[in-house]
Amino acid sequence: MYEDRIRRPALMNKLMSAEKAALLFKDGMTVGMSGFTRAGDAKALPLALVERSRQSPLHLTLLTGASLGNDSDGLMANAGVVARRMPFQADAALRRKINSGEVMFIDQHLSETAEQLRSGDLKAIDIAVIEAVAITPDGGIIPTMSVGNTANFAQQADKVIVEINLSAPLALEGFHDIYVPGNRPHRGAIPLLTPWQRMGWTSIPVHPDRIAAIVITDSPDSPSNALPPDDETDAIARHVITFLEGEVKAGRMDPSLRPLQAGIGTIANAVLHGLIDSPFRNMTMYSEVLQDSAIELLDSGQLSMASASSITLSAAMHEKFIHNLEKYRERIVLRPQEISNHPEVVRRLGIIALNTALEYDIYGNVNSTHVGGTHMMNGIGGSGDFARNGQLSIFVSKSVAKDGAISSVVPFVAHVDHTEHDVDVVVSEWGLADLRGLAPRERAPLIIENCAHPDYRPQLRAYFEEAKQGGGQTPHVLEKALSWHARYKREGSMLVK
Ligand code: COA
Repeated sequence: MYEDRIRRPALMNKLMSAEKAALLFKDGMTVGMSGFTRAGDAKALPLALVERSRQSPLHLTLLTGASLGNDSDGLMANAGVVARRMPFQADAALRRKINSGEVMFIDQHLSETAEQLRSGDLKAIDIAVIEAVAITPDGGIIPTMSVGNTANFAQQADKVIVEINLSAPLALEGFHDIYVPGNRPHRGAIPLLTPWQRMGWTSIPVHPDRIAAIVITDSPDSPSNALPPDDETDAIARHVITFLEGEVKAGRMDPSLRPLQAGIGTIANAVLHGLIDSPFRNMTMYSEVLQDSAIELLDSGQLSMASASSITLSAAMHEKFIHNLEKYRERIVLRPQEISNHPEVVRRLGIIALNTALEYDIYGNVNSTHVGGTHMMNGIGGSGDFARNGQLSIFVSKSVAKDGAISSVVPFVAHVDHTEHDVDVVVSEWGLADLRGLAPRERAPLIIENCAHPDYRPQLRAYFEEAKQGGGQTPHVLEKALSWHARYKREGSMLVK
């Protein structure tokens, strides 16, 4: 039994229940788990750790690739198992614990965690928990629907627990390209010159002696929770497509564009979906997550291939995907997030980075993470890796949130994730502002007139006019710069009555 999944017979004696494997954990440990935007996360150990914590307290520092599925983040947070969490999350219960100050959340560029672990800047991983399709005869771990940081966790951890997921098809073998850069300061360039290149192994090499437990599971990944496109996201997609058509006409790109990156969530997925009605052909993706829209574009033939660190799909698309793996095998590469998001590679390939903002200001600074300037939403994820280093950094957002009570275009963002220096284009359903080569005083009118909701334009114009009275490269009325956020808190709307 399981011979096709545990191909090193000597490891059969490591088979055990999740409850027994949970006894390997000690209070205060640093744990690295697989999982990236709900894909490829460990399914059994999070629940077993919650149970285990009922017997004796367990407060862990939990590192992952990105967010976990199956409510694992929330369940572990509510049980007090997660004391510290990095580098990303997207769970409502964990978010509450973070915002109440009970869980310390380190919101980090997703390319950086592995680098900091390797450099010893972070506490070393004690135990790695990795979901796998199978273990190869030499102990290599074949990941499932994501790679994330698992190669780095497995390399560093004292002990490795492998969750073999029987619901993950064996045909996933061969999708992964595991490449781990060497140590600084003498390492060479990452030898990746095209999005489709493979340069590593198809499994994560681990010395079999370090595999401390093997647990069998069979539940699938949680489906994506991105909502379907709507009129506003369709309009945003049309503005982005018209802009990119202009880039092609101007001779700055050919109709295959540059490799595309698209951020998580409803809006980025919907914009990418909109590319189905575009004239672009032979496009490639070099992204961190593939959502339904990427598979649709592969199916339509407009996308020739896609490279990412995880695949997060709706239930229907997941069904279709896993039953047609042979069709996608040559066209999808799954890499460690350190490589999918690496600044060196993103800069070299000239990525078009498409990410979502919660809000942006009249000069082009972007807040992707902090609601009202204080409360964590999800985290910066890979948006900074791509925005800072891509050829074109595009941020999209609907012009208003909460039925118009919040303007997504504000005088000054209440938290800055992406500075005006890293942002080339901002878009809403009303239009697009191309900020390249523009000074702050030139940016403001363009953003106000093209992107802000018409209800908020008079207020924004008035702010900018008043700010200019005080002079400066980037004019502001400091005492009013955050007054919109304060008004929303006080009166329930940013709109002046
Ligand atoms: N102030 C307060 N809340 C706001 C807001 C603002 N300016 N703008 C949007 N919101 C709220 C929405 O109302 C919605 O709330 P709800 O969940 O209660 O309905 C929520 O934020 C999500 O907004 P939505 O418009 O549905 O966008 P989305 O699903 O595309 O997510 C981000 C947008 C910014 C939260 C998401 O893209 C994210 O976490 N980004 C950071 C990480 C990242 O970019 N990674 C990219 C690399 S993969």
